[in-house]
Amino acid sequence: MKNIDEHTITQAVLQRLQHTPDARLKEVLSALVTHLHDFVREVKLTEAEWKAGIDFLTETGHLCSGTRQEFILLSDTLGVSMLTVALNQKKPPGATEATVFGPFHTEDAPKADLGADIARGAPGVPLFVEARVHDLAGRPVPRAEIDVWQADDDGLYDLQRRELGDERRARAVLQADAQGRFRFRSIVPTPYPIPTDGPVGRMLVATGRHPWRPGHVHFMIRAPGHQTLVTHIFKDPDPYLDSDVVFGVRSSLLGRFVEHPAGDTAPDGTRMAVPFATLDQTFVLATAP
Ligand code: BEZ
Ligand code: FE
Repeated sequence: MKNIDEHTITQAVLQRLQHTPDARLKEVLSALVTHLHDFVREVKLTEAEWKAGIDFLTETGHLCSGTRQEFILLSDTLGVSMLTVALNQKKPPGATEATVFGPFHTEDAPKADLGADIARGAPGVPLFVEARVHDLAGRPVPRAEIDVWQADDDGLYDLQRRELGDERRARAVLQADAQGRFRFRSIVPTPYPIPTDGPVGRMLVATGRHPWRPGHVHFMIRAPGHQTLVTHIFKDPDPYLDSDVVFGVRSSLLGRFVEHPAGDTAPDGTRMAVPFATLDQTFVLATAP
């Protein structure tokens, strides 16, 4: 094919993909090319804008490392992550809803006993969580594995604090008991800005957007015979519940955080010298397909 112009080039590329052996790859790539070409035609992309886009993506890639994932951040802030979750993680009525995974989970979180203080020195107001895992019929799911992680009071995950090295704080892997119950001590989540020192931060400034997420605790709950649940519990009230920078808030995920004054006794029997909070939460897992 010769003399390809701005109208015939899309068909030309699609034809070139005709013999892709993997049918799904062919479908996805063909749709991507079609939408990309339509986008370029629609906005009449200039060559300077094409170069700026390439530079933006190049910088995004250069910033990625074992502890920083600027591409996920880009996907999150453009709503692509939450759209993918919404399409793939539809839960039956009654099951706890899923939300974005985010870039701050690690595979090397320490295991903790039920009742442990998983903050391990992370600054914040003490929080006592009493929770349980049920199935759709309301039956306890015994011995589910619970991966929990959160930012500290300064809005930072342990992975973002260079001075901590490999030390892990405000995260743990727990196992629910035979009745599906689990409990731990941590800190009250507070709102925090996503990292803004890279191209995603510049994109937020350029579009007049703030970088904040409402305070939340992340949970990943796994149990045989059940769909893995990746979700958060959000603190309510919070100034950013209606404008989460990554579009992850579901009203069903607002937790009931109760504040207690200094001098009250915590659920673990400790008489607390400082104010603290409690959270009572039930997670409902959908059955595996
Ligand atoms: C998080 O909640 O950890 C998160 C999610 C998306 C982007 C940045 C952070
Ligand atoms: Fe988070």
